[in-house]
Amino acid sequence: MDSLVQLIKSANYLVVFTGAGMSTESGLPDFRSANRGLWTAEQKQYLSSTNALNDHLQEFIEFYRKRVQGIHEFKPHKGHYILAEWERKGLIKQIITQNVDGFHQEAGNQKVAELHGTLKKVHCEACGKSYISEEYLQENYSCSCGGVLRPSIVLFGEMLPEQPFTAAEEAAINSDVFLVLGSSLSVSPANQFPLLAGETGAKLIIVNKEPTEMDGVADFVIHEAIGSVLEEINLKL
Ligand code: APR
Repeated sequence: MDSLVQLIKSANYLVVFTGAGMSTESGLPDFRSANRGLWTAEQKQYLSSTNALNDHLQEFIEFYRKRVQGIHEFKPHKGHYILAEWERKGLIKQIITQNVDGFHQEAGNQKVAELHGTLKKVHCEACGKSYISEEYLQENYSCSCGGVLRPSIVLFGEMLPEQPFTAAEEAAINSDVFLVLGSSLSVSPANQFPLLAGETGAKLIIVNKEPTEMDGVADFVIHEAIGSVLEEINLKL
């Protein structure tokens, strides 16, 4: 752990890449944790697709209403606040997140590239008008134009937003230390950024409870809970 702390302490361009495992200690489920993840326990992955939006609208809306409820019910945890402190200290140059809960910004991070969009907003599938996602909490699913309101997240079958993607690419290339927190690294193209960082000279650190698809190419792998790992590193910085 001491050499890992030294690596982070001496980083010139630390980039943090987070997945759903970053928010489980806040109370939100992840997707692929054995027995607990949304895609394993509830078999709901098909609802995170454009097909579900087009062909199973009621089930789609009910699934996302519950997920919107979750990001309003739960809050960032100590690990999110440590990352915000590291940005304030100038240690973290960029957060790249696959998460759509907005917890990094809520904890105080400014430099956050949201590769998969955000559940904080919904928008009209017909005219594109944007609303806050509380519309779903009030069970309002229609736009003033009559179109359907859907979460402003990237569904399977959709392209990633250009600006966050470009910011993530630039950060991965510029990074000298790339810290992955709580991702199975199983979804492309997001999972290409740790590889790109490694290929362009960064040291790759993976903190994830379960083994990931990229443990073999990482310089450091820690299979422990993020909250306690970040707390331990923070105490030694
Ligand atoms: N500490 C460390 N690791 C954790 C913790 C924790 N407290 N909680 C969960 N994990 C690990 C799990 O072991 C799992 O391997 O986090 C990982 C989360 O992986 P996934 O559930 O696959 O989530 P993620 O990698 O973010 O998924 C990527 O898939 O369905 C899409 O759009 C969705 O953004 C998501 C993408």
